[in-house]
Amino acid sequence: MKLDSIRRDYKKAALTKKEAAPDPIHFFSQWMNEALALELPDATSMALTTVGEDGFPQSRIVLLKDFGNEGFTFFTNYHSEKGRAIAQNPKVSLHFFWAELERQIRITGMAEKTGEEVSEQYFHSRPLDSQIAAAVSAQSTEVPSRAYLEEKFAEMKNRLDGADPKRPEHWGGYWVHPLKFEFWQGRANRLHDRLVYEKQAENWIIKRLAP
Ligand SMILES: Cc1cc2nc3c(=O)[nH]c(=O)nc-3n(C[C@H](O)[C@H](O)[C@H](O)COP(=O)(O)O)c2cc1C
Repeated sequence: MKLDSIRRDYKKAALTKKEAAPDPIHFFSQWMNEALALELPDATSMALTTVGEDGFPQSRIVLLKDFGNEGFTFFTNYHSEKGRAIAQNPKVSLHFFWAELERQIRITGMAEKTGEEVSEQYFHSRPLDSQIAAAVSAQSTEVPSRAYLEEKFAEMKNRLDGADPKRPEHWGGYWVHPLKFEFWQGRANRLHDRLVYEKQAENWIIKRLAP
């Protein structure tokens, strides 16, 4: 397999300080809307990077479920590897890549558990089978087999007989409070556009970076 000859030019759009919204959350919302309008698969997926106790970073995809002044919200198991990493180091990054738009956004910020009511509301808004799967999965722990998971799932589903399971206390949301954003737009000849927003006091300072 030869990978070194695979290349494409990026020339769909440009990014100037003038067109960038002064508020990065607003600008994020514009770019997210454009990704959603194209009906890209998993447009709301993002790589969440945490730093574990061993000092190694770990990334995995999670789904963005909300964003705004509270921060960027995703849901997971607090006992998972990412949950354990965040408990000892709340510094995280979020990374979106929309290949069709030739765009990426990087966000660095501080993760904090959402209020219980946010977790409760979202947990029970999910399809019943997803709620059961979350309730029976001790995420990121070793399991003896696939059959073991399926038995636990079937047993709970049977027992509940159509009712919602109780949300496990260790399942819930995080808000990522952003401190820095980078908006990247691919350009011709690899001379890409990069705009960084950094929070200084209550203001966002915008800088252009070399590609
Ligand atoms: C498209 C996609 C969406 C996902 N969404 C979530 C999510 O919202 N929450 C979650 O906990 N895991 C989600 N996952 C699974 C995670 O990538 C990961 O496997 C899991 O959370 C365990 O990660 P950890 O062991 O690093 O904690 C998703 C995976 C993919 C590919």
